[in-house]
Amino acid sequence: MSLPRTENNSSGAALSHQKPQLPQLVIKGKTLKVPIVQGGMGVGVSLFPLASAVASEGGLGIVSSACLDRLVSKRLGKRIGTYDAAYEEVARAKSLGGLAGINIMVALVKDYPDSVKGALDAGADAIISGAGLPLSLPAIQAPKDTALIPIVSSARALEIICKKWEKLRYRPDAVVLEGPLAGGHLGFRMDQIDLDSNKLENLLPPVKEMAIKMGNFPVIVAGGIYTYEDIMRFVAMGADGVQMGTRFLATEESSASAEYKQAVIQAEDDDIVVAHRPGSPCGLPFRVIRHSPMYESSLKALRKPKCDKGYVLLKDAEGKFSVCPAKVDNKDYFCICNGLLSSAGYNRTEEEPLYTVGTNASRIGGIVSVKALMDELSGKSI
Ligand SMILES: Cc1cc2nc3c(=O)[nH]c(=O)nc-3n(C[C@H](O)[C@H](O)[C@H](O)COP(=O)(O)O)c2cc1C
Ligand code: SF4
Repeated sequence: MSLPRTENNSSGAALSHQKPQLPQLVIKGKTLKVPIVQGGMGVGVSLFPLASAVASEGGLGIVSSACLDRLVSKRLGKRIGTYDAAYEEVARAKSLGGLAGINIMVALVKDYPDSVKGALDAGADAIISGAGLPLSLPAIQAPKDTALIPIVSSARALEIICKKWEKLRYRPDAVVLEGPLAGGHLGFRMDQIDLDSNKLENLLPPVKEMAIKMGNFPVIVAGGIYTYEDIMRFVAMGADGVQMGTRFLATEESSASAEYKQAVIQAEDDDIVVAHRPGSPCGLPFRVIRHSPMYESSLKALRKPKCDKGYVLLKDAEGKFSVCPAKVDNKDYFCICNGLLSSAGYNRTEEEPLYTVGTNASRIGGIVSVKALMDELSGKSI
């Protein structure tokens, strides 16, 4: 337990700077010292350096499964597959102690089962899964000690998942409720993003009620949370924890390229837009920095359609993974696989980067260490 920080005033009396402690968060019997989940950030932003640093500081560190086979193969200097890459990254994220897991997006259909199996076999503390409804997650392989945590944007989505998982004899170990201010893909239609009813504080009560009804598991809120005070505010409203992305994107340990981090520091409010037509081939609105080179090129349809990565392919009528709208249409879609790989420094010379951020990116003024950020967020320093 941390002791209050004190200093003497002129009369010699001690002044306390201690803020009330954040509550702990227990997920599937495991205790997080601080109720902070570092959100999975693909492609290649939350890898083991970030996740292990967060885990060491008492939060839940999360690597992203997106395009992990390519990123880990490059790091190891030998070609490995999806299962091995998920295994390797989770094992390394856990290697410094603390709790760590993986984010696996439903939209990455082709690699989904192998990512889940690799993470489970490596002993992930949690699998967090959204960008679609993870209806089959508990059926892939027995999760043992791993917590299975869906991401939803409404109570209705949580109910659908719980009812499906009931048939698989599983109940979520927690749920992430992500509101419309988040980075990455958003679980809202364009015309729903600015509705008052979709503000995180208004989405929380019905989702909390549903979580209580379906087995009383923790609710972790995400999207636009920035300070210790924000965390306390949501805890007071009934949240059990928070998931944060953008603040961890701008840390020393995040694996975003230096240019990406610089673009985050420079971004003003007006620079942050929700991309849609042109947008993500996954069909969901996607928040980006307007000056991302790939986004700017997509506004002018400059990149010729070319599919050489294939992570978001869907099955065609014959059951082959061959369908992605960005393969044929460069007016309405950008090639998200290549844009995000480039922003992680993977293929920077061949493809332009695409920078995704949450709305709060405009408040980021510099890069800090995970330790400094976790101290600030848990109220230990201002
Ligand atoms: C750079 C970046 C990449 C992200 N990638 C993913 C991802 O791969 N999968 C996912 O479920 N969420 C992803 N997210 C969402 C975060 O995990 C998190 O829930 C969200 O950003 C929270 O909002 P905040 O950024 O305002 O803290 C991403 C967010 C950012 C900023
Ligand atoms: S066209 Fe681009 S975004 Fe679509 S699957 Fe191929 S590489 Fe990925």
